[in-house]
Amino acid sequence: MNTTLVQPKTWFKLIALSALALLSACERPPMDTVQTGYRGTGMVQVYNPRIMEGVIAANQAPPSTPAAPSEGPKARDVYQNVKVLGHLGVGEFTQLMVSMTAWVSPEKGCNYCHNPANFADDSLYTKVVARKMVEMTQTINSDWKNHVAATGVTCFTCHRGQPVPEFIWFKPEAQAKGADFIGNKMGQNTPAASVKLASLPYDPFTPYLQGAEPIRVNATKALPTDHVASIASTEKTYSLMSHMSTSLGVNCTFCHNTQAFGEWKGASPKRVTAYHGIRMVRDINNAFMTPLTDTFPANRKGVLGDVAKANCSTCHQGAYKPLFGAPMLKDHPGLASLSKALDKVDAPAPADGMPADAAPAPSAGLSSLLPAKVLFAVGKDGLTDEARKVIEDAGKLLTAEPGVKVTISGFADQSGNLNTNMELSKRRAFAVRDALKAAGVAEDRIELKKPEMAVAGADADARRVEINAVKP
Ligand code: HEC
Ligand code: HEC
Ligand code: HEC
Ligand code: HEC
Repeated sequence: MNTTLVQPKTWFKLIALSALALLSACERPPMDTVQTGYRGTGMVQVYNPRIMEGVIAANQAPPSTPAAPSEGPKARDVYQNVKVLGHLGVGEFTQLMVSMTAWVSPEKGCNYCHNPANFADDSLYTKVVARKMVEMTQTINSDWKNHVAATGVTCFTCHRGQPVPEFIWFKPEAQAKGADFIGNKMGQNTPAASVKLASLPYDPFTPYLQGAEPIRVNATKALPTDHVASIASTEKTYSLMSHMSTSLGVNCTFCHNTQAFGEWKGASPKRVTAYHGIRMVRDINNAFMTPLTDTFPANRKGVLGDVAKANCSTCHQGAYKPLFGAPMLKDHPGLASLSKALDKVDAPAPADGMPADAAPAPSAGLSSLLPAKVLFAVGKDGLTDEARKVIEDAGKLLTAEPGVKVTISGFADQSGNLNTNMELSKRRAFAVRDALKAAGVAEDRIELKKPEMAVAGADADARRVEINAVKP
């Protein structure tokens, strides 16, 4: 008998079995899809209704208690040691203490934060942390409306009835190299839940949600020179994006038109919300969590001794809006704004929804033209035919890209009188500005720079005005 050969029939069974094993790792159909962008852009969300059920169950807000009346004596006049909630009426204050207990320490009750013999005592670290948390929550709700809108957050958004929120992060230990001749692995090839077990760098949080490294992949120029994004930053960017998608339970097209990831025009307005979210999380981690490092006991800290920090999952927990947008804040006005600055004005929304510091990068066509040099004759500020042609070309490309702003800088050569030259340079810059305006570029897109002395000698190139794009 031949025992080493497997019969064809058995082979088939093995293949069928392994195919089944592979498929069981996939999600079982049917799936639901929801279109979120224009037809043809592929901006569609794919949901698995069975997985959604779990996310929905995990994102239910507790029953709301109507806001307590704010009249009557203020907490600061009644209690001894109230630094962040003193502006509340005593009724409101008490209601908030009861809610905070339900949100953060339902099992241990008031004594999780308080010394029952003296409620004014600050000896428990949890109370000191909780005070900072109140300030943090007030800051999120008042300073980060461009992310949390009027919906806002409460302690429950992160804590969900537990003293330590389920989703937090610490700095990971440096990766073992394996052998000395192997370079820095950049946190790759180590499957980690933070990046959906992909081989991407597993710590996108330290550089982006604590540090402020640029989140960039796309080139802004046609040529490889000036390419801002290294391969390393590309990989880390994808790690962060993978975290953001997972936290919100969405795919990339929830925010991007994936034909051009870097484009703001054509992307979903949710990308702008996410942009502010990234900055908000940095603020939470740097202004509130990190300063608490010495307050937390060692058993609450990471392997490197750093404090627990927030990321997108801390609030979102798989939902595109935490708790699917349940407006819990309205019943807890004490958490709505900083007690010190009650009448903070909302930051004005940036024009056409674009984050203020995220000027769009000029297209390849525009990049290849800019900086455009407009040359002048000695001692003259009149535009030559050649100069008009340069401005006309720039004007055409600029009207097609209304988001791009330009600077106009005049240069003068070193011959002759300095003041006269500077004056001449200014008039030349005005001439270029007026011609650009005539070509249809709005004045508020043009910024005039102070005239500069060209380093070159008295050659034609020194007598120039440059039109350049404002760097994004
Ligand atoms: C998660 C932590 C936490 C829990 C739980 C908590 N508190 Fe507080 N409590 C605080 C903080 C923080 C302050 C200080 C607020 C400030 O500085 O404005 C405070 C202050 C107080 C004060 C004012 C004491 C004084 O004289 O200065 C009273 C009274 C109080 N809490 C009662 C309660 C009661 C009653 C409960 C339970 C129903 C409770 N707290 C649960 C954190 C907590
Ligand atoms: C943005 C998310 C977020 C919000 C909102 C938030 N917290 Fe926290 N909280 C955290 C994180 C992260 C930690 C650190 C986890 C740890 O303790 O190790 C923490 C820790 C705490 C601790 C210490 C618990 C312990 O056992 O170490 C207390 C107490 C606390 N928060 C109270 C509050 C209160 C009260 C509010 C509402 C006024 C609040 N938090 C709002 C994220 C949040
Ligand atoms: C919740 C919204 C959101 C989701 C989901 C999302 N992104 Fe992003 N993405 C952003 C934002 C916001 C930025 C810009 C960040 C900044 O500039 O601070 C960005 C930047 C990028 C960039 C850099 C573009 C450039 O200018 O170089 C790439 C590439 C990218 N995302 C890819 C992806 C991929 C791939 C996915 C899916 C795995 C994804 N994104 C999911 C919001 C999102
Ligand atoms: C402090 C809690 C908190 C954190 C942390 C947080 N978010 Fe949010 N986010 C919210 C709230 C609350 C809303 C709902 C605002 C509303 O109702 O319009 C929201 C809404 C959004 C939306 C808009 C969804 C929609 O359908 O309009 C996006 C996109 C988003 N968050 C992305 C992110 C990303 C990406 C991160 C991490 C960089 C993040 N959020 C971190 C609280 C948070």
